[in-house]
Amino acid sequence: MLNLYSLGMEKGLLYETILTTINSDGTPNAAPIGVICKDSNGIVIYLHKGSKTYDNVRREKSFHVNILNDPMIFVESTIGNLENKEFKSDEGNGYFIKTAEAFFRAEVTSEKLVHRKDHLGTFTTYVIRAKVMRIVKTQEHVQPLNRAIYGIIEALVYVSRINIASEDEKKTYLSQISEISRVVNKVGSKHHKGAMEKIWEFLEQKNIIIMD
Ligand SMILES: Cc1cc2nc3c(=O)[nH]c(=O)nc-3n(C[C@H](O)[C@H](O)[C@H](O)COP(=O)(O)O)c2cc1C
Repeated sequence: MLNLYSLGMEKGLLYETILTTINSDGTPNAAPIGVICKDSNGIVIYLHKGSKTYDNVRREKSFHVNILNDPMIFVESTIGNLENKEFKSDEGNGYFIKTAEAFFRAEVTSEKLVHRKDHLGTFTTYVIRAKVMRIVKTQEHVQPLNRAIYGIIEALVYVSRINIASEDEKKTYLSQISEISRVVNKVGSKHHKGAMEKIWEFLEQKNIIIMD
């Protein structure tokens, strides 16, 4: 039987997916959402209050996770609405995206509302654990999207240019590498984090940064 590992997911990593949910009027909705693989059939997601996805998952306690790499689907589901023709009914039990490499339906098993305060105000996040119900692979090759490798490649591009950079450019590169490092540590595996550490060690050896 298929499980998250057979889709190429690894325990502890965060994948960028498209969640499809049902609006209160029965129509489908799509939004990019990070999904953390907890084990072979369990996930955790964090939904920030204010989105349709937040409302829909709180109401329905069920959603679909679509694995795909199409940039246009990511863009349209973030800044607009995906057209109805992009969705297909999953045997009357929610919707998936037609062009997804794989998808699964998930059911909420535990939920928690977390309130966070910062200088911009109070934020409410809905933290959900969900179990994977039915996995469907529509393509042989499924590649769950994890940002860590892209971050490391971007950091290396900066590293490879750092010797020819002006002092101002060096500062910009280091601040970009710091941001990349934050992302890699949030979404990546031990292997990715080790690679990132190696980059920092190199920058220290070359006296580009001073580590304490
Ligand atoms: C790559 C990516 C990952 C995202 N991950 C999350 C997430 O984990 N949780 C969340 O609440 N919003 C996340 N967002 C933001 C939502 O996708 C965005 O607010 C979206 O417009 C919500 O759409 P909706 O109102 O149709 O649900 C993410 C956005 C992008 C581009």
